[in-house]
Amino acid sequence: MTTLSNEQLLERLQWRYAVKRFDPARTIGDEDWSTLEEALLLSPSSYGLQPWKFYVVKNPDVKKRLRSHSYDQPQIEECSHLVVIAALKDAQPDDIERYLDRIVEVRNTPRKELEVLRGMMHGSQKQAREQGALNDWSARQCFIALGFLLSSAAILGIDACPMEGFVPNEYDRILGIQDDGYFSVVACALGYRDQNEDWLSNLEKVRYEPDDVFTRF
Ligand SMILES: Cc1cc2nc3c(=O)[nH]c(=O)nc-3n(C[C@H](O)[C@H](O)[C@H](O)COP(=O)(O)O)c2cc1C
Repeated sequence: MTTLSNEQLLERLQWRYAVKRFDPARTIGDEDWSTLEEALLLSPSSYGLQPWKFYVVKNPDVKKRLRSHSYDQPQIEECSHLVVIAALKDAQPDDIERYLDRIVEVRNTPRKELEVLRGMMHGSQKQAREQGALNDWSARQCFIALGFLLSSAAILGIDACPMEGFVPNEYDRILGIQDDGYFSVVACALGYRDQNEDWLSNLEKVRYEPDDVFTRF
């Protein structure tokens, strides 16, 4: 297995920034795009439950409509692909059963061997429901997928902008997310930076000093 060197990894992460202006003439190629979709699929989630759906928007008309509900941010229209990451709304016990069925299908595990896991998952879901935290729990998983997407794109040399600056209800309506039983959490515009138009492209990263952030024991 090949790995990046420490320097290469940090170089990729330094190169990445939240792009404000994409070059609308450049499109992510099919092979790169399917790799990014695979990276989303491979994202970890609590118990592996994957309480998410990914809505991929390339259509210019749909992007235009979404931009009007995104504080007019140009990334929405200028990017190559926009991914809207949506969380499962009001997860049900049946969603756990569906996942267990999938484990059986993929790994050929006898279902009775999954009883302990099954009990734990139902217990966690019930507790989250009682605490009114169920949708938050699902939404948190979406941010893990976002992180995977951002890092993967940076490693491949593809630019991105994570985005919360949009009106979720409008996205849910336009993309049919609410009809699917999900709610939009965060979006990510992907493509290639327009170095000349983007005032952010040459600015230093603003980060706290390590000692302000890390506590080491
Ligand atoms: C969850 C999330 C939502 C964000 N929403 C927006 C957004 O709507 N528009 C935007 O231009 N940048 C957005 N950003 C980008 C941040 O402003 C940016 O990541 C931060 O300033 C750090 O800069 P860097 O990513 O360029 O290093 C968002 C970032 C995150 C993680």
